[in-house]
Amino acid sequence: MGELRWRVINPSGNKRVVVTKELPGDHWLEVLTSADCRTDICTDTRILDAAEIAAAVGDRCDGAIGQLTETWDEQLFAALEAAGAKAYSNYAVGYNNVDVSAATKHGIPVGNTPGVLTETTAEMAVALTFAAARRVPEGDRLMRAGRFSGWLPTLLLGELLWRRTLGIVGAGRIGTAYARMMVEGHKMDVIYYDVRRSDELEAFVTSYGRFLQSQGEAPVSCTRVESVDELLAEADVVSLHPVLDQSTRHLIDARRLGLMKETAILVNASRGPVIDEAALVAHCQTHPDFRAGLDVFEDEPSMKPGMAELDNVIVVPHLGSATSWTRRGMASLAACNVAGILMGYPVWGDDDVRHFLEGAPPKAAPSIVNAADLRLPSTRA
Ligand code: DGY
Repeated sequence: MGELRWRVINPSGNKRVVVTKELPGDHWLEVLTSADCRTDICTDTRILDAAEIAAAVGDRCDGAIGQLTETWDEQLFAALEAAGAKAYSNYAVGYNNVDVSAATKHGIPVGNTPGVLTETTAEMAVALTFAAARRVPEGDRLMRAGRFSGWLPTLLLGELLWRRTLGIVGAGRIGTAYARMMVEGHKMDVIYYDVRRSDELEAFVTSYGRFLQSQGEAPVSCTRVESVDELLAEADVVSLHPVLDQSTRHLIDARRLGLMKETAILVNASRGPVIDEAALVAHCQTHPDFRAGLDVFEDEPSMKPGMAELDNVIVVPHLGSATSWTRRGMASLAACNVAGILMGYPVWGDDDVRHFLEGAPPKAAPSIVNAADLRLPSTRA
């Protein structure tokens, strides 16, 4: 490995922030510069290991912005504390790569970036759903290979999703946004599994069902099921949106794949290890009418052996949040998390983070996941 390359913004800033990847847009840099920060950005695209990050932190660092591809563990938070750091932000809404307890132990607030990637990630799950249902990549490959020799009644038949049953595992922000898109667009009945009841999702589907009835159409329904097994057996499409933790690692394994319909579609835009990927490969090899649309992988960036050869699996490289607006917004939120804490501001007490995305942001850190444990003040009265 050669020397890492760095770009430095505002070299005369009094505080030093280390950022392990280039981020899109300029607003985030304006935020850090206004907070009197010098920002050191690693311009290499390869994933940094812990030793490289610790070396970059060095003996003087006030804050850091890291990536979901890096493991921010006890060792790195100890290095941050020793360098005088007071803030860390993940450039992601998910933070399964961060040992939050270790950060808390070292007194370091951990930020994340919710509120700008909900619809964006839900749209990717919708794209994967229909690409799988209607065999879009297979058709694309056939065309490019010059193998389309004319319209045929039996060519690449897929699944109609209109009025079928949608299964949502994890009815948080992204799961709910995806369900709404599928219900409004395709009039699907929803079943969902979540440890908590989603009043928001149930109220939306119920009132949309009433609207459909007022138009002389059949309503749609929303039912919370008691178990993942029940959901898998009933749904025509299953989309996974849980947080990754020990309870959801390999949530979808060989036994549960065996419960699903032969023609079911499984979509994952959450975290790869939620699916036992080797079991999925084996299932797709023996169930040609079963389809999967995957944005995330168990051993990212690799796929399990056999996956690349499967026509009934659609794969994209973790693009769920990959729109310009969202990735710029994530950069603004990550910078505001670090700058807000370094400036001694309270934590934003509202879910609406749009005020942080342009111009002078509010005097607050938009999203700090260990704020309660660190007893940080909040703007919420
Ligand atoms: C996140 O923010 O957690 C996403 O996975 C990034 O796309």
